[in-house]
Amino acid sequence: MMARPGLGILGSGKGSNCRAILESIAKRVLRAEARIGISDVPDSGILHVAREFDVTAAYLPPGKFRTKLAAEAEIELGQILRDAGVDWVVLAGWMRVLKEPMLQAFPHRILNIHPSLLPKFPGLEAWKQALAAGETITGCTVHYVDAGVDSGEIIAQREVPILPDDTPETLHARIQIAERELYPTAIRQVCA
Ligand code: GAR
Repeated sequence: MMARPGLGILGSGKGSNCRAILESIAKRVLRAEARIGISDVPDSGILHVAREFDVTAAYLPPGKFRTKLAAEAEIELGQILRDAGVDWVVLAGWMRVLKEPMLQAFPHRILNIHPSLLPKFPGLEAWKQALAAGETITGCTVHYVDAGVDSGEIIAQREVPILPDDTPETLHARIQIAERELYPTAIRQVCA
């Protein structure tokens, strides 16, 4: 039998996408093995989620920048992932742009989920951008990570309607429901 692809899940937040992926693996819907969960935020929810599912959890000190990793930290990240036997890097609420060290270490092997229908509204708090633009439909996108910001090849998308009385919070919560369905399915599609 073929070995199951090894996933490394990276995130900075509460970890609801990570939980959906780990549940999908536990239910054997997603045939993969989560090898490690890594966060640039100490004590973040995603690290707790990883431990809850008996997945190794690691905090990576990010260095002095706000939007990217320090060069040494990014090289260390690649090493940690390789040492853990990771084949696919899955960004699940990871809020730093990845640069050459990671893109070269995992070419066409890094996936991201973004809370808009890309190419619309890349960058931070995409649901607020969609609301401010007066859109009636937004959604979420799974895509390959390249050197740009949320610009890589699109793998899958799911639409979410914007309701007249939506606030940023209600809209993001509905997008997240769609994310939790879309991401494990998309990972399954590319890792197969
Ligand atoms: C998700 O909505 C994800 O799409 C977004 O962060 C949230 C993380 O939630 N990611 C980005 O905005 C990346 N540009 P989670 O920690 O509950 O999975």
